Amino acid sequence: MELEKEDIQGLMVRGHGNLTSAKFLLYNCTDPVGSCDFLKEITPLITHADEKPEDEAIQIAFTYEGLAFLNLETPVLNSFCREFKEGMSAEQRRSVLGDIGENDPGNWDWGLESVHFLLMVYAKDQEQLDKSLLRIKEQTDRCGIQLIHTLPTALLQHQKEHFGFRDDISRPVIRELLDKTPPETATTFPAGEFIMGYKNLYDEYAPAPFVPKTLDKKELLPLHPDYPERKDLGKNGSYLIFRQMRQNVHAFWNYMKEQTDEKAAAIKLASKMVGRWPDGSPLSLCPMQPDSALSESNDFGFWDDDQDGLKCPMGAHIRRTNPRDHLVTERSKIDSSEMAAKHQMLRKGRPYGKPVTPDLDPNDILDASGDEEERGLHFICMVTDIRRQFEFVQNNWVSFHKFGGLENDADPIIGNHYDTGQFKTNEFSEPNYPIRKKYKNLPNFTLIKGGAYFFFPGIKALQYIADHD
Ligand code: HEM
Repeated sequence: MELEKEDIQGLMVRGHGNLTSAKFLLYNCTDPVGSCDFLKEITPLITHADEKPEDEAIQIAFTYEGLAFLNLETPVLNSFCREFKEGMSAEQRRSVLGDIGENDPGNWDWGLESVHFLLMVYAKDQEQLDKSLLRIKEQTDRCGIQLIHTLPTALLQHQKEHFGFRDDISRPVIRELLDKTPPETATTFPAGEFIMGYKNLYDEYAPAPFVPKTLDKKELLPLHPDYPERKDLGKNGSYLIFRQMRQNVHAFWNYMKEQTDEKAAAIKLASKMVGRWPDGSPLSLCPMQPDSALSESNDFGFWDDDQDGLKCPMGAHIRRTNPRDHLVTERSKIDSSEMAAKHQMLRKGRPYGKPVTPDLDPNDILDASGDEEERGLHFICMVTDIRRQFEFVQNNWVSFHKFGGLENDADPIIGNHYDTGQFKTNEFSEPNYPIRKKYKNLPNFTLIKGGAYFFFPGIKALQYIADHD
């Protein structure tokens, strides 16, 4: 089925990387009517996937509380999935996500108290961004919409994240977006894994919110292909997961320094924790030293010649978040690949805060003196099934201390590291010959500062939200 790109928000197909300035704005509505007026005004300005704006892009997403405040009808609200309805900071979700202790939502800057919607504003430069934000402020003020939090962003050089590693290399490709047959090595997925209203890996339509047919009086929405009595509110939309993650860069590199005796060894240990060298080249393909020719390489697995993790440790960030063709619980390479494919996410995050050094070379970061600067990553991903995709990865792979036969290890980079006395998650095991090395007492290198689950609607669904009776 062809993608209806003019009805899909642009962020689903591009990260707006050409628009280097961006701010993410969190709002609360005070008056449902005024808010709907605002939504009607902003709808024509929302960037869709068929355009590649050169000046400005705007995207919008709603929490469940926001949709309820806008008076969406009860059967419509009920049709959303449980995880979205409960929200990221709810008790049940905290335990699934491992947001306890230091990461408890009670310590977050935002996300515990109500947030109604998120505007993501991208612009070609700061001047254009200021202009766009001024215009939006005039509109929101007039419609009784309160800005509750502004999240700045700052792209870093060489496509890096703050620890100094190249990011955004491994991305699932949406099959329906390709004009021609992809190369055999590309990892492609049916659109339904990320965009509602299309078939997913189970050859089904992803579970999606709907409107009983009789309620869509203005005939804004398409019919659901499987249920003639439903209008498809989910069509061309997705769930957007947002987690603001503070990165403690100094703690990260100090730990590496303390555990090793020279810079090269410190960088190697950090790379073992990530699963790639700082330049992006994967340890699976070049375990001894980085190879810049492979810095964008994504064509590798673990089954054939790294089952023991001697090249890329089992607990490395990239091996946990995407175990590819080697999951110890599966009996074959094919079973593993099929299993891992069902837990993919479309990542579209942006860093925020000043980098420790401008070009983020770990050799320089290791020499830099500590500062109190707040910096990190706005982790953003899109999925059609919050439970099967994001929460599964976070729970079973990132947080589980016995993942892949390990004992006391959570994800070394993003895991919540603690020791309850009964069990601990603060170790990192590096398989080595003749004996493996164990690193202990890992502090938390990242900290959750806020987060929420959003519905990222298609344009027609947005019209319905703005203009329902
Ligand atoms: C501050 C937080 C984070 C940092 C610094 C970080 C860093 C990185 C880096 C350097 C890579 C390698 C580049 C690439 O393969 O694209 C990567 C890959 C990845 N990360 Fe993260 N990440 C963070 C948070 C998360 C979170 C919260 C998740 C999901 C729960 C996640 C899931 C992934 C996935 C799925 C990959 C690709 C793995 C693969 O296919 O090989 N990351 N991350």
